[in-house]
Amino acid sequence: MCGIVGYVGDREAAQFLLEGLTKLEYRGYDSAGVAVFDGENIRVEKSVGRLAELKEKLGGNIPVGTMGIGHTRWATHGRPSDLNSHPHTDCAGDFVVVHNGIIENYLALKEELVKKGHKFLSETDTEVLPHLLEEVYDGDFEAAVREVLHRIEGSYSIVFMSRRDPGKLICSKQDNPLVIGLGKGENFIASDIPAIIAHTRRTYILSDGEMAVVTKVGVSIMNYAGVPIRKKVFEVNWNAEAAEKGGFEHFMLKEIHEQPKAVRATLSARIEKDESAVVLEELAWDKAFIDGVHRIFIVACGTAYHAGLVGKYYIENMARIPVECDIASEFRYRSPIIDDHTLTIVVSQSGETIDTLAALKEAKRLGSKTLAVTNVVGSSIAREADQVVYTWAGPEIAVASTKAYTTQLIVMLLLGLYMAQIRGSLPKERIVELVRGLKEIPTQISRTLEDVDPIKTFARQYGFNEHVFFIGRSLDYDVALEGSLKLKEISYIHAEAYAAGELKHGTLALIVDSLPVIAIATQKSVYEKTLSNIKEVKARDAVVIGIASVTDTELEKYADHVIKVPETDEMLIPLLAVVPLQLLAYYAAITRGCDVDKPRNLAKSVTVE
Ligand code: G6P
Repeated sequence: MCGIVGYVGDREAAQFLLEGLTKLEYRGYDSAGVAVFDGENIRVEKSVGRLAELKEKLGGNIPVGTMGIGHTRWATHGRPSDLNSHPHTDCAGDFVVVHNGIIENYLALKEELVKKGHKFLSETDTEVLPHLLEEVYDGDFEAAVREVLHRIEGSYSIVFMSRRDPGKLICSKQDNPLVIGLGKGENFIASDIPAIIAHTRRTYILSDGEMAVVTKVGVSIMNYAGVPIRKKVFEVNWNAEAAEKGGFEHFMLKEIHEQPKAVRATLSARIEKDESAVVLEELAWDKAFIDGVHRIFIVACGTAYHAGLVGKYYIENMARIPVECDIASEFRYRSPIIDDHTLTIVVSQSGETIDTLAALKEAKRLGSKTLAVTNVVGSSIAREADQVVYTWAGPEIAVASTKAYTTQLIVMLLLGLYMAQIRGSLPKERIVELVRGLKEIPTQISRTLEDVDPIKTFARQYGFNEHVFFIGRSLDYDVALEGSLKLKEISYIHAEAYAAGELKHGTLALIVDSLPVIAIATQKSVYEKTLSNIKEVKARDAVVIGIASVTDTELEKYADHVIKVPETDEMLIPLLAVVPLQLLAYYAAITRGCDVDKPRNLAKSVTVE
């Protein structure tokens, strides 16, 4: 959601800006723009639509200059249009600004500035920033930016550029990510690492309330009062190749195929050599800590929320602690009952989702202990939580989350086992059984990925249906929710997941002749019941595609098609059952000619509420 890039050095800035923005396309956007300073003037070029449209507009006439900023915008205040695109400028064209997030007090500021004669061109909240800068500027760029930062409220990452103070970019952030890439004789700014990783792995990750002055020879960081801050260089532990497609047609397909490797990385060093127990060194909890936890909340959005649902099942079953799983945007506003006996676990691939971050802050404010499960080292959520368990899935670029989900499931399982070990709530033999099962999962995912032809066929056969239902019970229902989210977000097919037992309380009315129903039936404890529900939809002439374990011989008697996954413990099988559903969504999107990695209206990282 919105991307920011900035460059100052000796090279042509536009080249880096356009290339950096391309690397951020996955975040989701609907317009793009760049501003380049040529030593005298700032040239701003922007266009609604994809970056390709901006490039087409520029043709051969690329802005010249060695300092610049760029932006991809995901519309919030004002529809996508050339005028609403960033960068925004002041009246005189002296200052330009790119901004992610929302300036909450922009209306009051705008009114004040309009009264003073400032002319606004866009409907955005962002445009108040350059005008306010113009208003308060009296010869000192840094002081003027500090004044602006003092006056604005909301969440943001911002880069300011001025033609009055050449060679200097100033940036700041609050609740939105911003990194500074350190080069030799050049420096970079970006809202996310993929934009700069081809140039440097040495970065500063800005914290809330910090402001950085970036020139080609150095970076100085200070707080809003101008007091210098010493910051450690953060060395990114992955390279440009990890953020490339590596021969796959789409990032999503690459990431689906990376799951065995990602799961191995998540498990690495977290299982005792003799496979007898789980080790989570980063937590080092003891009995007193766990006994002090009377209730757990798992809070997240989207796919991470679906991982949280599975986490609830794992933790309750293994550790016997009550768990509530909540959508972050709901949790914050429902006055949750929290005290210092509560542990709040937030799950977030990016570590930047604003609702999850706000929920985490609210839980902390109410006295909860907090733990983040995230994929991004140094992300806002990782820094805000008391403790962090990383998923180590590697960069996930496709909007539709796949390897992040499976690795989140692994962490949920590790957490369940870890708590159970400390509480003594699960027999040792059962822990060993699950740990051994876990170690097989990467190979079993690889095997699941080999059997792709039938899935391609179903996707072609049913990819043009407008409605698809997913059903399942227990953990299968949680997987159904994730399968249906995958399908709807990238193929735009209306997909709904229902707890199979709930069908007859309303949804059965929608089941008609030839409607595809994907039935997940891997849970032995509810298997017979799921079969009855499958018979109910078959009786209404639905087409049933079943997902079952390889040892299953029953399902094919009732389902039209069955996709089999390797045999494992029923606690672990969601890790395998989700894989064909990811592939089905992918190939359905391909059949329908959708833009798999950049689905319409969606963003990878949602940094507005
Ligand atoms: C967006 C993405 C989803 C993701 C959700 C939560 O909606 O498109 O793929 O599951 O945000 O993101 P997070 O980074 O917090 O896991």
